[in-house]
Amino acid sequence: MREPGTEILSVASAERMQALGRAIGSAVDESEGPFIIALEGELGAGKTTLVGGFMRAYGITGPVRSPTYTLIEPYQTASRAVYHLDLYRLVDPNEVEPLGIRDLLAEAAVLLIEWPSKAAGALPAADLWIDIAYPARGTEGREVRLTSNSPIGTNALRDIVAAIPELRLLSP
Ligand SMILES: Nc1ncnc2c1ncn2[C@@H]1O[C@H](COP(=O)(O)OP(=O)(O)OP(=O)(O)O)[C@@H](O)[C@H]1O
Ligand SMILES: [Mg+2]
Repeated sequence: MREPGTEILSVASAERMQALGRAIGSAVDESEGPFIIALEGELGAGKTTLVGGFMRAYGITGPVRSPTYTLIEPYQTASRAVYHLDLYRLVDPNEVEPLGIRDLLAEAAVLLIEWPSKAAGALPAADLWIDIAYPARGTEGREVRLTSNSPIGTNALRDIVAAIPELRLLSP
């Protein structure tokens, strides 16, 4: 059974992960105000690949790399500021404080956060949770679970699934 506000997608390749990211970017671009996306998934799951596709929707065509050492990478887009965070190297959740996340949200920024679990308790609640998992052995690609956590998250999730219905895993 699918929980309300949750979609599970089967993403067979890195190209499809980019397409999913792009669909998410287009959906988020329709929203107003700040938007936070939390990206969970073990090392090499495909989080940055998804962010790369997301940036394409915002017209960013250059390479997108995880800001593992700098923690945060700003992208100026035509509509609003988008920030890509990678908190993998965080030792203490309090280390996110100097990044000034609350100020960014006051400017209606979009935040994409890899490894949010490293800053548990120190981050505002995400509008959309994305969890990327390696599927069972013998299955291609990745399984991506999207969970909305706010009205704007729910709106975006509806648009995302409408844009890429072929990726949807129809559970019984
Ligand atoms: N759906 C997919 N199916 C198969 N391979 C994929 C898929 N998505 C991404 N990949 C591949 O997985 C590798 C790791 O991707 P990526 O760097 O995006 O992972 P990550 O989750 O950001 O890793 P890290 O935790 O190190 O930041 C890349 O080679 C990418 O092409
Ligand atoms: Mg990454």
